[in-house]
Amino acid sequence: MGLCAGKPSNVAHVSSTQLIKDAINQRERKKDSRTSSLKKVSKKSADEVVNLPNNLKTFTLNDLKAATKHFRSDSLIGEGGFGRVYKGWIDETTFAPAKPGTGLVVAVKVLKSDSHQGHREWLTEVDYMGKLCHKNLVKLIGYCQECESRLLVYEFMPKGCLENHLFRKGVEPIAWATRMRIAIDVARGLAFLHSKEPSIIYRDLKASNILLSSEFTARLSDFGLARNGPVGDNTHVSTRVVGTSGYAAPEYIATGHLTTSNDVYSFGVVLLELLSGRRAIADERGVEETLVEWVMPFLNENRGVFRIMDTRLGGRYSKKGAQAVVALALRCLHKDSKYRPAMDEVVTSLEEITNTPKNVLEVSSLAPSLRSS
Ligand SMILES: Nc1ncnc2c1ncn2[C@@H]1O[C@H](COP(=O)(O)OP(=O)(O)OP(=O)(O)O)[C@@H](O)[C@H]1O
Ligand SMILES: [Mg+2]
Repeated sequence: MGLCAGKPSNVAHVSSTQLIKDAINQRERKKDSRTSSLKKVSKKSADEVVNLPNNLKTFTLNDLKAATKHFRSDSLIGEGGFGRVYKGWIDETTFAPAKPGTGLVVAVKVLKSDSHQGHREWLTEVDYMGKLCHKNLVKLIGYCQECESRLLVYEFMPKGCLENHLFRKGVEPIAWATRMRIAIDVARGLAFLHSKEPSIIYRDLKASNILLSSEFTARLSDFGLARNGPVGDNTHVSTRVVGTSGYAAPEYIATGHLTTSNDVYSFGVVLLELLSGRRAIADERGVEETLVEWVMPFLNENRGVFRIMDTRLGGRYSKKGAQAVVALALRCLHKDSKYRPAMDEVVTSLEEITNTPKNVLEVSSLAPSLRSS
């Protein structure tokens, strides 16, 4: 997780019994044959770099020390469950360490030795990111595997994570039109993953895993929890429940059954975050409340949509657009996963919403005669 306070916790580490049922986890862990085969690969791969994608650059630890000013604290840009993330510089063509401030800027993630996500997630990340290329996925440039050290080298995303822009105090609020563009980018990234054969289920969609370029293009990062979806006649993959509370779909938490519609639910939560500027989970006087629980009573009211909107938008959003996005979010959050739309349908709906100028224009920028719409 990033450096922000009051962040949602990873589901697998939440102690509350309604979210995590150890019994289910234990049972699912036994059933999860995919997990055990991955473990085998990961053990083997720890010693054999040859198993890792060869289109990625292999860095030495010394390279990455030199690139990050020896992991000095002024190079630190964030910290999550995996470990710390540092800013570094490498040569654009040779990828050799470069003088700070020159060449290509990278983000170097250092797996902490006691990381709960650990080597298996590191390997999953390298494996998926080595194969996948899409403008809405963060680019993995290379990795380092030396003795016990595991590092990942990504393209640097200058605007950091969406979480910081939506929730951090003192940060300039993101405009309505930009929020809509971010929603489309994220939806496209997920639709791309789901379109693969077999589908790839991302499993950890949340605001801190959505990174932003200097032009606010959104890219998904962190594939450590991703899994291949069901194949053949299977309707789901059984897994240990992991992910982040507040974002994870209720049926997934209850059963560990993984389908692409789990990602659709998490996307619905991200849409609510973009609309409301509120976190997926909040601690209200010691009681945890999810954003979904918070919005529902408002949405049963006439004009309740406008009561959930981020006050930092200062009313500068299209009312019609907001209503359409809320309606879409509710479909994504449907309790019964079979009624949720597929991600490519979500992309089409968002494109239709944003291609209608009235839905993107901010109310205050419309002529007075149009304001009532
Ligand atoms: N490629 C990158 N470019 C710029 N900043 C990055 C990059 N990758 C990560 N960061 C920053 O580092 C922070 C930590 O990222 P990390 O993915 O390790 O943790 P997280 O997503 O906050 O939590 P979790 O471990 O639960 O996924 C991010 O929130 C972001 O601000
Ligand atoms: Mg992350």
